[in-house]
Amino acid sequence: MSDLTTLLEVGGPLTALGGGAAYTRAKHPAAYWSTIGLPISTARLLGSYTSVMEACGLTVAPSRLRVLAVKATTRREVRPVPPRRGIIRPTSTGLRIRLRLAPGQEPADVAASAERLRHAWGVHAVYVTTVKPGVVELRLVGFDVLRRVRMPRKADTGLLKVPVALREDATAFVRDYRTVPHQLTLGATLSGKSMYLRHLVTGLARQPVALVGIDCKRGVELAPFAARLSALATDPDQAAELLPALIKEMEDRYDLIKARQGIAPGTPDEEITSDIWGLPENQRPVPIVLFVDEVAELFLVATKKEEERRDEMVTQLIRLAQLGRAAGIYLEVCGQRFGAELGKGATMLRAQLTGRVCHRVNDEASAKMALGDIAPEAVGAACAIAPERPGLAVAGDTSGGWSRIRTPYLSLGDAAEICRESAHLVPDLPTLKPFRPDVPPMPVKDSRPVAAPRPVAE
Ligand SMILES: Nc1ncnc2c1ncn2[C@@H]1O[C@H](COP(=O)(O)OP(=O)(O)OP(=O)(O)O)[C@@H](O)[C@H]1O
Ligand SMILES: [Mg+2]
Repeated sequence: MSDLTTLLEVGGPLTALGGGAAYTRAKHPAAYWSTIGLPISTARLLGSYTSVMEACGLTVAPSRLRVLAVKATTRREVRPVPPRRGIIRPTSTGLRIRLRLAPGQEPADVAASAERLRHAWGVHAVYVTTVKPGVVELRLVGFDVLRRVRMPRKADTGLLKVPVALREDATAFVRDYRTVPHQLTLGATLSGKSMYLRHLVTGLARQPVALVGIDCKRGVELAPFAARLSALATDPDQAAELLPALIKEMEDRYDLIKARQGIAPGTPDEEITSDIWGLPENQRPVPIVLFVDEVAELFLVATKKEEERRDEMVTQLIRLAQLGRAAGIYLEVCGQRFGAELGKGATMLRAQLTGRVCHRVNDEASAKMALGDIAPEAVGAACAIAPERPGLAVAGDTSGGWSRIRTPYLSLGDAAEICRESAHLVPDLPTLKPFRPDVPPMPVKDSRPVAAPRPVAE
């Protein structure tokens, strides 16, 4: 009887504790990591560092000096040496540790063992980055950070830099227009392209940047941001008028740069080497970001007459992509597919769009359109995205690598609210004035009349 009581007394709380831990791990992984996961993984790492490195083949033979020192001072056997490690730096999503590579090792050797290290130390994933020659950083991620995305508080922000999504190694994926001026975002329907655009629009809304939209879905995605947009086209007809205005703005900016350089107007654009960033701040025109949602709509034609208009628009888009950067005009193009089947100019325009983000796609060919020239594994990773995770995407890096990213959820209402709050930041651009969208009036929350109606006396 007393055994049973003891069992209940000890087992009951233990079961409750275990159940609580399992619940926290499933429902609140970040809290679980900070309270339970981090101490356990740290203890595992410290306790098993040498043996794990040895099992992964990351140790080297000890130096002769070390062998002599060990033999002289102890009777222990001389064991191979693992890479020297720095201090463990815990974070809210995992931990970081720097390793000094032993002579003859390269970062790829450690990266090849990442999967083995993750199992040995019981973490969700291990990523390896090179800090400087001879030093790598192991980034251990404690749980699947892309399941419920929370952006890190410290992210690289600044003019034309938007931390738009979270990478799988828990760092922010920053869309930096100054380094990658134009980008193509592809994905099947409901894959999260417009959510990605929404984050970019709201991120840029608070900066001194002109935002221009072409949304051939009658404006359903971009019209809610009308308060902050300098121009909006909601069908191909309007786009056909807006694009020449942007070309004109670009040419004016080139004239401005030429004038500043003392070159006579009329010099061909290609001979200008500087850009608007070289102009003094009081003369520098504001950067313009052109968002194009569902780009294929601009390419599709039904009649011969429309074909001419389409060719013009495509040429204008190509010109903006080719020459826009120096004039501070950047393109953000979204579509479901973007291949040669769209007709003349499609692949040429695609080649101008440096940045690539590919959401879930329905076939490998679509993924290849976005990522084919980056890496075959990136194409495979994009094809493996599940429909249950909208917003998950594969992004190409400027370094030629790629990573999985996911945007946090942001409702259309909240995004529209941010745009309304920053409406005073819409820059004054006379060329785009005719295209400024009408701002829908704020919905009236309380529709009760000011004075209570009194029934007319009978
Ligand atoms: N990061 C995310 N987290 C949670 N839900 C998301 C995320 N991204 C998108 N969604 C949801 O997925 C759905 C589709 O997103 P979105 O409209 O951005 O897709 P889309 O690719 O633009 O589709 P379409 O081609 O039909 O316009 C929306 O209901 C949206 O709320
Ligand atoms: Mg969309």
